[in-house]
Amino acid sequence: MNIQFVDLRKQYEPLKKEILSGIEKVLDGMHLFLGENVQQLEVEFAEFCGAAYGIGISDGTDALNIILRAMDIGPGDEVITVSHTFIASAEAILLTGAKPVFVDIDPATYLMDVSQIEAKITSKTKAILPVHLYGQTVDMDPLLEIASRHNLRVIEDACQAHGAEYKGRKAGTLGDAAAFSFYYSKNLGAYGEGGFISTNNAELAATMRKVRDHGSGIRYHHDLVGVNGRLDEIQAVILRAKLPHLATWNEKRREHARLYRKLLMSTPSILPTERAGSIPVYHLYVIGVPKRDELQAFLKDRGIFTGIHYPIPVHLQKATEFLGYKKGDFPVTEYAVSQILSLPMYAELTDDEIKYVADSISTFFKNNN
Ligand SMILES: Cc1ncc(COP(=O)(O)O)c(C=O)c1O
Repeated sequence: MNIQFVDLRKQYEPLKKEILSGIEKVLDGMHLFLGENVQQLEVEFAEFCGAAYGIGISDGTDALNIILRAMDIGPGDEVITVSHTFIASAEAILLTGAKPVFVDIDPATYLMDVSQIEAKITSKTKAILPVHLYGQTVDMDPLLEIASRHNLRVIEDACQAHGAEYKGRKAGTLGDAAAFSFYYSKNLGAYGEGGFISTNNAELAATMRKVRDHGSGIRYHHDLVGVNGRLDEIQAVILRAKLPHLATWNEKRREHARLYRKLLMSTPSILPTERAGSIPVYHLYVIGVPKRDELQAFLKDRGIFTGIHYPIPVHLQKATEFLGYKKGDFPVTEYAVSQILSLPMYAELTDDEIKYVADSISTFFKNNN
């Protein structure tokens, strides 16, 4: 059996006609940016999240950067986030000239350890940027309480959490603004780059809209220094064709997670923890295992492709050396990255494929205990 980590073709086949006819219409009309499809997507995806305002953006990194810029965060400011994330979370902060200040993660969920935030707050701190990694929301209530007490902004990195819920509310509505990525492999993915900002704050939404388009509301009138962060119409057509299926795809991922759990229970794998009140959408299904690299190679030999998200924490990357962090600064993060393994996860996986993955993991541990 050959099991891809993500299989885009299986999702594309049933939507092919609709997507191609939508793309044809865009090309016939030649309105390529910020047209009808982007405007509709802004309404539809904001509604999906339960947010008042939506803004289509070129990608998730720009979405984070635009939110931070619109909040006037820049040189001399600090933003508290995690090192256990894709580099873009910290990179977006660095792109504004502000400094990312890291906290460690909770070993059970691999998410921001909210109890460590307060100790990192200084007079320079302007915002907290929780990352809903792997599709599960950070424990937001205590985080929001700290933010409100210290008058800090809260920016959700929801790039992996389309539809994830926290105590009945969806990611994208839990802070001042949220960034989503529509990178092709995400639960809702474009066929190129794409991103989104959601917010309930009208004033902030208006500023972010301007920042997205070179600081401009009226063509060639530039009120702010902005960026080119526009979403294009072709990606919006693709995303609109997929959006009506997102809830079903997320439920499928949750079903797959239940089956993985049942089948892997008797192996030495540490299985994902769902916090009470949280409904994760399993962008990634991440287990913790001893002998991770050997297991990954063994699975590859059996035609099973896995991933590591992410092998080097942000504070130990060459690009962030100048921040002055060192090995040992975030022990939970550093231990986690040596153990984590992301198993194949997408809506179209079959039970037989999941069984094959689980059987292979069991076989590996039977031979290697
Ligand atoms: C947690 C996280 N933050 C930010 C991003 C950046 O999104 P994009 O790749 O669309 O720029 C990603 C996506 O890869 C991500 O996974």
